[in-house]
Amino acid sequence: MNSSNLTKNPLPNHIAMIMDGNGRWAKERGLARTAGHKEGAETVRKITIHCTKIGIKYLTLYAFSTENWSRPKLEVEYLMKLLDGYLKQELDFFLKNNVRLKVIGDTSKFSKKLQETIKNTIEKTSGCSGLTQVLALNYGSKDEIIRAIKKLNEQNLEVTEENLESCLDTKDIPAVDILIRTSGEVRLSNFLLWQVAYAEMFFTQTYWPDFNEMELDDIISDYVNRERRFGGV
Ligand code: FPP
Repeated sequence: MNSSNLTKNPLPNHIAMIMDGNGRWAKERGLARTAGHKEGAETVRKITIHCTKIGIKYLTLYAFSTENWSRPKLEVEYLMKLLDGYLKQELDFFLKNNVRLKVIGDTSKFSKKLQETIKNTIEKTSGCSGLTQVLALNYGSKDEIIRAIKKLNEQNLEVTEENLESCLDTKDIPAVDILIRTSGEVRLSNFLLWQVAYAEMFFTQTYWPDFNEMELDDIISDYVNRERRFGGV
């Protein structure tokens, strides 16, 4: 996909996704919610491959929120196992396709085993320079901002936009250009509240497991033709 000279914006640098609708996708098929998450992980793979092909630099995925702990214990356990398996399975793909993994959120609440898998994948892919896949894990924007303010205080830094940004989990990650939420819900659910300040937002009815490359291309085509004024005229 190219953005031609006729478009108003270059291709997005950073796309963020709220991957919603796994449970409803499964329910409509008479399946357990976990089947929706399993299929959702396939969509993560598909969309990541597509983003590497079209030259997107950052893809941030809301995989587990600070609020998701309140789900039934078995569902939380399933999601943890799915993440661990996904990271182990994808390592080869990441390395072959020059994909770097980053994580935002407070992973200290995860099991030692999952923390080890995360650390290993981050380390092994740290030299990759193509797409950066950013997984939001035990992530909540309010939690991130509070942790950032604590860091500012600890370092005795003046409260400025720049200093606060340098203390966020997303330091070194550019601002979000496109935010997509699937499944028809129109809210941010504590995701990247600071970082989407000037993002273009897209809300689609499609459940995450059904989201595909074509729909992403349509959104990007719409984005490159939108006028982004960043508060100017
Ligand atoms: C929201 O759908 C989805 C989640 C809370 C989990 C997202 C996880 C995945 C897409 C799969 C695993 C991720 C990776 C990176 C391998 P929901 O369960 O709230 O759906 P519902 O609103 O229809 O109930």
